[in-house]
Order: sequence, then C-alpha cells, then structure tokens
Amino acid sequence: MAIISGPWNLLPSLALCYLYAQVFAHGVPNDPTGFPPCDALIKAGLADRLLLPTSPAYEPRVESWWSANARLRPWCLVQPQTTQEVSTIVTALSRAGGGAGDWHIAVRSGGHGPAGSNNIANGVTIDLGMMNRSSLDQTQNLASLEPGAAWKDVYFDLLHKGNVTVTGGRDGGVGVGGFLLGGGNSFYTGRSGFGCDTVINYEVVLANGSITTANLTQNPDLYKALKGGGLNFGIVTRFDVQTLPAVDLAYGQSILSTNYSGLVLDAVNDFTDQPETVAADDALVTAFTHTPGVGQTILVIRANTRGNLNSSSFGRITSIPAMKTSWAVMSMADAANKSQIDAGSLNTQVTGTFLNVPSTLLNVVALHTDLISTLSSRIGAENFTSALFIQPIPTYFRSAGHRNGGNILGLDRIAGNAILWTCGVGILNGDEAALAVAKMELNALSAALKARSIQKGADVDFVYLNYAEGMQDPLGSYGEENVAFLKGVASKYDPNSWWQTRVPGGFKVSRVGV
Ligand SMILES: Cc1cc2nc3c(=O)[nH]c(=O)nc-3n(C[C@H](O)[C@H](O)[C@H](O)COP(=O)(O)OP(=O)(O)OC[C@H]3O[C@@H](n4cnc5c(N)ncnc54)[C@H](O)[C@@H]3O)c2cc1C
Ligand SMILES: *[C@@H]1O[C@H](CO)[C@@H](O)[C@H](O)[C@H]1NC(C)=O
Ligand SMILES: *[C@@H]1O[C@H](CO)[C@@H](O)[C@H](O)[C@H]1NC(C)=O
Ligand SMILES: *[C@@H]1O[C@H](CO)[C@@H](O)[C@H](O)[C@H]1NC(C)=O
Ligand SMILES: *[C@@H]1O[C@H](CO)[C@@H](O)[C@H](O)[C@H]1NC(C)=O
Ligand SMILES: *[C@@H]1O[C@H](CO)[C@@H](O)[C@H](O)[C@H]1NC(C)=O
Ligand SMILES: *[C@@H]1O[C@H](CO)[C@@H](O)[C@H](O)[C@H]1NC(C)=O
Ligand SMILES: *[C@@H]1O[C@H](CO)[C@@H](O)[C@H](O)[C@H]1NC(C)=O
Ligand SMILES: *[C@@H]1O[C@H](CO)[C@@H](O)[C@H](O)[C@H]1NC(C)=O
Repeated sequence: MAIISGPWNLLPSLALCYLYAQVFAHGVPNDPTGFPPCDALIKAGLADRLLLPTSPAYEPRVESWWSANARLRPWCLVQPQTTQEVSTIVTALSRAGGGAGDWHIAVRSGGHGPAGSNNIANGVTIDLGMMNRSSLDQTQNLASLEPGAAWKDVYFDLLHKGNVTVTGGRDGGVGVGGFLLGGGNSFYTGRSGFGCDTVINYEVVLANGSITTANLTQNPDLYKALKGGGLNFGIVTRFDVQTLPAVDLAYGQSILSTNYSGLVLDAVNDFTDQPETVAADDALVTAFTHTPGVGQTILVIRANTRGNLNSSSFGRITSIPAMKTSWAVMSMADAANKSQIDAGSLNTQVTGTFLNVPSTLLNVVALHTDLISTLSSRIGAENFTSALFIQPIPTYFRSAGHRNGGNILGLDRIAGNAILWTCGVGILNGDEAALAVAKMELNALSAALKARSIQKGADVDFVYLNYAEGMQDPLGSYGEENVAFLKGVASKYDPNSWWQTRVPGGFKVSRVGV
C-alpha cells in the first residue's frame, strides 16, 4: 500500500523506525533489550546491576571464569550486591516472559566449577561476585562469608580482622559458594571435617524469593541437604562458619621424578592409613602431571595445620629424593595465594573413589600414563596438560560431620580409608575437537579403573560433587536414602521445581535415578 500511495507515506514508518532504534539502543540503562529475563530485571529496578554485551565490564567479567570453556556469553549478567537484591532477581526471573522462550538461568560464585555448571549462553547468569564480604563474630567463633568471595581474600580478611581462619579451599582462587555446597576438602578437613561440616547457619533465597535461614533448629532438613547437595534448593547468600585460630601452617610443594612413582604411592598408601591421633593435622595432596616441555613429574603438596615442620606423617614421602622442594611456616592466606592453578585452558575432568589399596593406586597411575600417551598421539603432547590428583579420605574425615549434625555425602557407606582421585586435562590451543577427544579418553580411564577396582574389591561408590563433571552422578552416589531425602527437601522448598527446570547447571536431584 505504501508503494502505490507514494514515498511521502513512508515518512511515518521511518520516524517509527528511528524511535524504535532510540528506545532499543543497547547499553542505555532502562531501555528494553528484547531478552525477556534481562528486561524483567530492568523492570524490577536492577538496570544498574546488569552487564550487557555492550557494557565495558562485560567482556573482562566473562574472562574471569576459570575454564575457557565456561566463558560463555549470557544475554546479560546480573550482579546483586545484597541478599534482598538476590530475592528481587529470583522473583523477577520466575515471572519473566511468562516463563516461555528457550532460555535458562545460571548461578556463579567463584567461577571455578566445570563448564556447564556455572554459566549459560542462552539466558542470564546470576553472578554473585560482588557479594564477597566476610565478617567476624568473635564471641561465637563464627565468620559470616558471602558466596562470591575467593578463599584467599577470606583468609586475608579474617586473619587481619581477628587472627582466625576457616575450613576453606586450598587454591586461593576457588569461590566460597560452590566449594561449601559440594562438600569442601580443606587442609583442615582432618580436624574440622569438610567445609560444609563447619557451616552453622545458611541464609538462603528460595525459589519464591523468600529469604530464609537453615540451621540445626530452623529448617533442619534444608540445613542437612545444603551440606553437599549443591544447587537444588536455593541460592545461599551467607554461610556462617566456625572459625579456627590462625596458627601458621607448615606448607610446602615438592617436584619429584616419576622414577619414584612406586615409592610415592607406597608413601601415600601409608599416609592414608594413619590414625586420626597421628595425622589429623597433616594433609597430603599428590598429583601426577604432564606439562608440555617438561614431561611427566610428580607434585607433592604437604601441610601441617599446627605449623609443625617435623610431623612424622611425612617421614616416608620426604625420604624420596625431590628435584625441587619448599617447606616453610606461613599463614593459610599466604599458602592459598601461592597455590592458584592457572586458568584459561579448555578443561575437563573425571573423579572417583576407591579403597586405599596399593594395587589400585598403581592402576590409576598406570592408566593416567596411558592417557598421556594416547592424548599425545591424538592431539599432540604440546597441546595439553594433564594432572591426576590423589587425595586421602580416611574414615576420620567423617568425625566432625557426625559431631555437627551430619552432611549428605553418604560417606559412611565407604568401608574404610579411601582415595579420592581426579583426573583433569587442559587443552592449551583452544581446540574444541581436542577437548571432545580428551573427554572420551577420560571416560575410558574411569571405566577401566572402575573395572579393576571392582575386581580387587576396592570399588567405592562415591563421586565427589566438587570434582565431577556433567557425565557423572555425584548426588546418586550419596546412596538411595540420601537421594530420597534430597528429593523430599527439594520438593518441599521448591514445590514448582523451579531450580530443577529453569536453572539446569550443576547436578539436579530430580534427574537422579529416574
Ligand atoms: C584450581 C581448582 C582448585 C580446587 N581446589 C579444591 C579444593 O582444594 N578442595 C575442594 O573441595 N575443591 C576444590 N576445587 C573444586 C571446587 O570446590 C569446585 O569447583 C567449586 O564448585 C568451586 O566453587 P566456586 O564458587 O568457585 O564455583 P562456581 O563455578 O561459581 O559454582 C559451582 C557450582 O555451585 C553453584 N553455586 C555457586 N554458588 C552458589 C550459591 N551461593 N548458591 C547456590 N548455588 C551456588 C553454581 O551454580 C555451580 O553449579 C578446586 C577447583 C579448581 C578449579
Ligand atoms: C570483592 O570484589 C570486588 C570486585 O571484584 C573487588 O574489588 C574486591 O577487592 C573484593 N573484596 C573482597 C573482600 O574480596
Ligand atoms: C537458627 O535460625 C534461627 C532463625 O533465624 C535463629 O534464631 C537462630 O539463632 C539460628 N541458630 C543458629 C545456631 O544460628
Ligand atoms: C594469632 O593466633 C595464633 C594462634 O592462636 C597465635 O600463635 C599468634 O600469636 C596470634 N597472632 C597475633 C598477631 O595475635
Ligand atoms: C630417571 O630414570 C632415568 C632412566 O633410568 C634416568 O636416566 C634419569 O636420570 C632418572 N631421573 C632421576 C631424576 O632420577
Ligand atoms: C625440626 O626439623 C628441623 C630441621 O628440619 C630441625 O632443625 C629442628 O630441630 C626440628 N625441630 C624439632 C622440634 O624437632
Ligand atoms: C599473592 O601473590 C602474588 C604473587 O606472588 C603477590 O604479588 C601478592 O602480593 C600476594 N597477595 C597478597 C595479598 O599477599
Ligand atoms: C597441536 O596444536 C597445533 C595448533 O593448534 C596444531 O597445529 C598441531 O597439529 C597440534 N599437534 C598435534 C600432534 O595434533
Ligand atoms: C516460599 O516457599 C516456602 C517453602 O515452600 C514457604 O514456606 C513460604 O511460605 C513461601 N513464601 C511465600 C511468600 O509464598
């Protein structure tokens, strides 16, 4: 019609186009973006908490995810600063776009979780990074931690505020939120249990936007479920955790030749079987690694949380010649700052557990050596790093959990002292095809190890959530009873299954055993 009536009739529609362009100009606060969840957040008054792809801070923030493959670009990032804002966000998002549209929500704290768990391309990511304060109540020996803080900052803060520390991460870059919701293996675990065992009180934003607390007396079922249950019940906005005196640690790292693999494994096996009375203050992390240009080496990390440089627990491992070694007294803050693993490769990993049996320790290391040769021929030795981490999980790691009301990890089903293994591969040249190959090879390693563990009677059905990737089933490994419990808690606190369906990242209890 415009065509036959002459060009002057086009003017009103041109004017409309111009107006449209003004209203929808990107990056201008309060203007609609066309993305339902982002528009809902703007409408809820949170425009100045949003990062859009046009915001200068957007790209640097995307780069802050630890794994390169987790650096997805959401339609918008929303960065709440208070619990009330988290509540407003959850409420706004639950109504956004009438629930239609093919988009989802992700939640991020420290951003160290695996790709797929903590960010999303089609939708909005709730980035808790601005909620990174910690405070101290010295009369009760409690620290209140916000989820977005990195452990190194928590340690520095608490050290300077009150000369105390907490049962947190060993790598300073890891975030409070994910670590504490998946368990939390710390240098202090021998004494105070997993990080989650030291949480006395949680502040949580539920699916309906209400802010609640969970502790031994208030919502005790939710309290227990949060101790290892991950993102299934709500967003935790504050963790109140028990503090410890900030005694400086004895801490060190050594690099050993793989010529000594057998001796190292004997030492690990011995260390793991020591009784609580001997080794509760000692921690040993061993990693078999492949690094381009360096080849295969063994990294041994030792800590004594009482600052004892002469702890007898390490006698055997320190008798093995090292190419390089450090061993000194320092604060947890310094130790965490010194142990940050580089970010930025395409990462993938698998994890599992077996009983502390020497032959199975040999099996896992041999399988890792095979993995290195397979990947070297398939994708090039210069194009990847790999690390097989071996960590003792002696039975006494459960004591503190029992004292504090119990967690949901189901560790009592493990028949004895165990070894937690994690094998991670980092692709260095950004090659997604190589990443896909690495995932397959890791699965093959995992299956072969499982078969051998079963054969030796060393198999343990425990998959540690904090080291697991999407193809694994950590929640299912907590045992039928705990799964049923978690499902009950999820349906009680989230009757519409909002976290299960709208927030797909991480491990969802609704998907276990169906
Ligand atoms: C280099 C490195 C070192 C590590 N060292 C250790 C270690 O010493 N001990 C150990 O036990 N683990 C360790 N881990 C594993 C680590 O604990 C997990 O990756 C953990 O999930 C990271 O927490 P985050 O807050 O940084 O992660 P994020 O990726 O931000 O979050 C992880 C998951 O938790 C969810 N989530 C985060 N915050 C909240 C919240 N407030 N409410 C609800 N859901 C939330 C996210 O949606 C996501 O699914 C390490 C990992 C890396 C990469
Ligand atoms: C909190 O995060 C902000 C923004 O990244 C940072 O500048 C600040 O140093 C952090 N504070 C603490 C206590 O970690
Ligand atoms: C448990 O939560 C209730 C309600 O918020 C609170 O009154 C009580 O002090 C909390 N208990 C602990 C141990 O934090
Ligand atoms: C901090 O606490 C530790 C352990 O209690 C103590 O040895 C140290 O002297 C304290 N430091 C300061 C500065 O108070
Ligand atoms: C490891 O063994 C090889 C072969 O026996 C030997 O050449 C090398 O010097 C050894 N390295 C170390 C650090 O012992
Ligand atoms: C601890 O070991 C160091 C050397 O490593 C030694 O000098 C010191 O005397 C030992 N201390 C104790 C208390 O045994
Ligand atoms: C952490 O380590 C880095 C690099 O060694 C150093 O520059 C920085 O000062 C350390 N941070 C703190 C708070 O000590
Ligand atoms: C390693 O990566 C480089 C760069 O992507 C590639 O050219 C090379 O072929 C790779 N090596 C192997 C053996 O695949
Ligand atoms: C929010 O959900 C919780 C858990 O289901 C429920 O107890 C509470 O009453 C709900 N609050 C509102 C305002 O609906």
